[in-house]
Amino acid sequence: MISIRQLTKHYGSNPVLRGIDVEVAAGEFVVVLGQSGAGKSTLLRCINRLVQADSGTLTVAGIDALGCRDTRVLRRQTAMIFQHHNVVPRLSVLKNVLTGRLGAVSTLSSILQLFRREDVALAMQCLARVELSHKAGERTDALSGGQMQRVGIARALAQQPKVILADEPVASLDPKTARLVLQYLREATRELGITVLCNLHQVDYAREFGDRIIGLAHGKLVYDGNARDMTDADLQRIYPGQATHAECEAAGAVDAKVHPAELRVSA
Ligand SMILES: Nc1ncnc2c1ncn2[C@@H]1O[C@H](COP(=O)(O)OP(=O)(O)OP(=O)(O)O)[C@@H](O)[C@H]1O
Ligand SMILES: [Mg+2]
Repeated sequence: MISIRQLTKHYGSNPVLRGIDVEVAAGEFVVVLGQSGAGKSTLLRCINRLVQADSGTLTVAGIDALGCRDTRVLRRQTAMIFQHHNVVPRLSVLKNVLTGRLGAVSTLSSILQLFRREDVALAMQCLARVELSHKAGERTDALSGGQMQRVGIARALAQQPKVILADEPVASLDPKTARLVLQYLREATRELGITVLCNLHQVDYAREFGDRIIGLAHGKLVYDGNARDMTDADLQRIYPGQATHAECEAAGAVDAKVHPAELRVSA
């Protein structure tokens, strides 16, 4: 579903991705670990061309993601979920989910916010998957952070993508809510056969929810394997210089940070 070969990206003279090779099969739930600045967000952004990689090859759902001219075709297949859920607070929950259909409806109807009956039915099905049907008519700013993130998941599902790219989707949630949100994401994507690449900084969640973990350190792939097989030595490669499990987690955790590029996307 995703094939990445020798992917490189620099920001100025800063090498951020240094020859990444990854193959992700359809339906896999892959967690990306790495300390802050390792290149996790950049990798996800290269996949849907929010960031243009320098070199390498990248195929997503059969689309040449580095070379394709119409990025809309690529982005229709790659829904994104962010840490700060990016919902529109004043819109109803249902309308937020329906915005996931905007790529599939005509410009005129999206301007007029006219959605087809089947789109509304689909949006309601997606809300049911995250157990928020009863909130469909409520304003989204009346929801809790965890519920807003579930709306974000429902919106991503409503897009009917082949791939979901989730960039620290639970970083700003308490542990109980975070696990619930990851459970919804995993169950829904598993049932629908959607491939997921999910950046996390919690090693425990990665082990619990990932089919597979890939670890980045300084822009290089330093681990790629089954979530249960990851050893302490692997963790030390992913979090160089961190002696303990707790230090590894802390190295990946940078709370309440929003990258400027993320703000641009949500605007
Ligand atoms: N738009 C940008 N312009 C310049 N440098 C950038 C840009 N985006 C990222 N970088 C740099 O690229 C490197 C990797 O950043 P990236 O956001 O991919 O890391 P990350 O692993 O997602 O980190 P975090 O866990 O803090 O989110 C960092 O050194 C960062 O400063
Ligand atoms: Mg990041």
